[in-house]
Amino acid sequence: MRIAVVGATGRIGSRVVDEALGRGIEVTAVLRDPDRDLPTGVERRVAEATDVAALATAISGQDAVVSALGGAEVDQVSVVVTGAHALLEALPRAGVERLLVVGGGGSLRWPHRPEVDAIDIPGAVPKARRPFSLAQREALAAFRTTSAPVNWTYLSPADVIAPGERTGVYGIGRDHFVVDADGRSRISMEDYAVAVVDELERCDFPRTRFTVGYAGAAS
Ligand SMILES: NC(=O)c1ccc[n+]([C@@H]2O[C@H](COP(=O)([O-])OP(=O)(O)OC[C@H]3O[C@@H](n4cnc5c(N)ncnc54)[C@H](OP(=O)(O)O)[C@@H]3O)[C@@H](O)[C@H]2O)c1
Repeated sequence: MRIAVVGATGRIGSRVVDEALGRGIEVTAVLRDPDRDLPTGVERRVAEATDVAALATAISGQDAVVSALGGAEVDQVSVVVTGAHALLEALPRAGVERLLVVGGGGSLRWPHRPEVDAIDIPGAVPKARRPFSLAQREALAAFRTTSAPVNWTYLSPADVIAPGERTGVYGIGRDHFVVDADGRSRISMEDYAVAVVDELERCDFPRTRFTVGYAGAAS
């Protein structure tokens, strides 16, 4: 399999690159800065994620695209939404059908509050994270309503996603957080990357969203 990773230099994108390389997948990083360090064996193509023509050229010839796009600062969060629309235009232009999107968790629901998105529960999402969560929910809506011939999957992380261990074991949910025995929703970035590449290989969730988290005993 050959994949392009947009956002390959990011915290989550770089782990997806490592996980894919470890499984023998050929990886092309789509970067805005051509001089960034990348693991050996990764091809590089330069494109702004909001530039449809450049993006289409950069992803041509791939079997799938992973978008791990994110704005590092609050004034850059809109890239998640403009990037979503750009990808929905660029993939058909490039003749690539499969897209896996690193999503947000604010649009998921807690088992004890199933009537409302997490982000709409007052205080549930820290103030600093709200703009990122809102942008991600808007991007999810763009995927859900698109008529573009793109086989997208939007993978929402757990409520807490942080650097950690690769265990290779995770639980799966649809629109509700996967929670452990303490009711917490967590996943390491490494295991999230495992789930991304598993989904690329299996395509269990075409044109929909799912989520991953640790379902086992509390630790
Ligand atoms: N980290 C978390 O705790 C967390 C939690 C929930 C959801 N998420 C979601 O996961 C996604 C990725 O998060 P992350 O923490 O890995 O983000 P990150 O470390 O900030 O990485 C973002 C990536 O996007 C790239 N990028 C940004 N603007 C671009 C543009 N205009 N053109 C091309 N590339 C661009 C960055 O490239 P440069 O290296 O050039 O800047 C970088 O590779 C985000 O959308 C975020 O909402 C993250």
